[in-house]
Amino acid sequence: MRELEAVIAGHDLAYYQSGEPTISDHEYDKLYRELEELELKFPEEKSAHSPTQRVGNDLLESFENKPHLLPMLSIDDVFSEEELSAFWKRLEKLTGDEKIPVSIEPKIDGVAVSLVYREGKLDYALTRGDGKSGDDVTDNVKTIRGIPLTLAMETPPALMEVRGEIYIGKRDFEALNHKREEEGKALFANPRNSTAGTIKLLDSREVAKRPLSFIAHGIGSYEGVSLSSEAQFRTYLKAWNIPLNEPVFSATTFEEVWEAVNKLDQIRHELPHMTDGAVIKVESFEERQNLGVTARAPRWAAAFKFPPEQKETQIESIEVQVGRTGVLTPVANLKPVHVSGTTVSRATLHNQDEIDRKDVRVGDTVLIEKAGEIIPSVVKVLYEKRPEGAEPFKISEYLNNECPACQQPIAQEEGQVAWRCVNFSCEAKMADRLAHFASRKALDLASMGGAVSESLVARGYVKSPIELFTLDLESLGNLNLGSDENPRTYGVKNATKLINSLEKAKASIPLSRWIYGLGI
Ligand code: IVH
Repeated sequence: MRELEAVIAGHDLAYYQSGEPTISDHEYDKLYRELEELELKFPEEKSAHSPTQRVGNDLLESFENKPHLLPMLSIDDVFSEEELSAFWKRLEKLTGDEKIPVSIEPKIDGVAVSLVYREGKLDYALTRGDGKSGDDVTDNVKTIRGIPLTLAMETPPALMEVRGEIYIGKRDFEALNHKREEEGKALFANPRNSTAGTIKLLDSREVAKRPLSFIAHGIGSYEGVSLSSEAQFRTYLKAWNIPLNEPVFSATTFEEVWEAVNKLDQIRHELPHMTDGAVIKVESFEERQNLGVTARAPRWAAAFKFPPEQKETQIESIEVQVGRTGVLTPVANLKPVHVSGTTVSRATLHNQDEIDRKDVRVGDTVLIEKAGEIIPSVVKVLYEKRPEGAEPFKISEYLNNECPACQQPIAQEEGQVAWRCVNFSCEAKMADRLAHFASRKALDLASMGGAVSESLVARGYVKSPIELFTLDLESLGNLNLGSDENPRTYGVKNATKLINSLEKAKASIPLSRWIYGLGI
């Protein structure tokens, strides 16, 4: 059993950290099952650090609060070259040195955790909490395959608190949201939010299904062979198979630091995870000790926050979409442009007030950035580039005072910025109302994405959320999600899931969520 544990851990490492599987999935499954069978036969021999323990359980009712051995501090943020230079001058003054060896690495936009290893075994894992104590999320953290349960080293440290960030990689995030869309679940706003939500799930079997990763960036309490610098710490992390933060730059002068920070800013969009800054840390642990900490943050580190990348592009057209409550949202169609790692071709203009305030017109050249690196928005119009004859955009004029979906009148209520379609049975509104009713915070229905809601309404299956409860399995299974020429059926499997979750909702969803779901 010990041998199988080690062999499987080795394959996990190759697969999840190096991204280079060493055996086929089938062979892996065979080894895994063999270990599982042995563990069933000899439960007293089963190790708490066995790779089979990564699947999670649903035992938790809430998280236990536990103290950190050393406080988890924050970092002081700096937002400009001047502020960074002031940080550097303070370092020079406090150390009395002209050249100060520092490292510069990406600031990972994730959720901070502290992993406690005793005698080389993962003992428990805590969230940051208030910095003094955090929530015990050990079961959830154990599902993250990139985190070793056992340190690969003959004489591991007796005790070690490893600090780092849990995150969902950009690609994994897109795949996760895509899957949720297909399953009809609410989409996550950004990787950080979904990570934070995931790590606090009480059912770690659910956590095991989410693509969480981990990168270490620091150390708390430690009893082991002496560590004297960041570089040495990184060498040890590597030896322990703990994922470390890359790339890392070295510098000894402010000019070099500034160069490294700018270099990081250029390459950060190619990194697999979200990065919102560069962390500058004094290399020497002895020097860190001398510099000490304030109540909030160490004096030996600073985080330079990157401003969001902005790009110029042109508005080719503006269209108006109808939402659940009938709100009409103007959306700009843009000449496609690469911003913060993806191609952007649309940006919301929010409402008429926003359009007026920024004076956005079709044909305008605009500056685009991604709020939180995900959602594109128009920062400002470059008026000097406005083509002749560009007209102010008025939602009501553009729509001829008609809803683009149902052609019924639109209106702007007094004191409100939004234009709305006021037709209660507008199909576009109805589809969005259904999707809202099915969303996670409402009834959390299975297999009910946006496309399903739209088809249910368009094909005349339902006119209101409550009519969902009258659907029968057979006709629902035949629902056509595609076009008449290119039919794509919903299927009995999906229909069963939806009907089961409707039944379950009747028994378990509290009144507050029905009220929310119905939009009352
Ligand atoms: S070093 C004593 N390095 O950002 C704090 N922190 O905003 C030293 N973070 O508390 C932490 N990436 O949770 C460090 N490369 C990095 C980081 C990083 C993200 C987090 C960390 C920190 C928070 C402060």
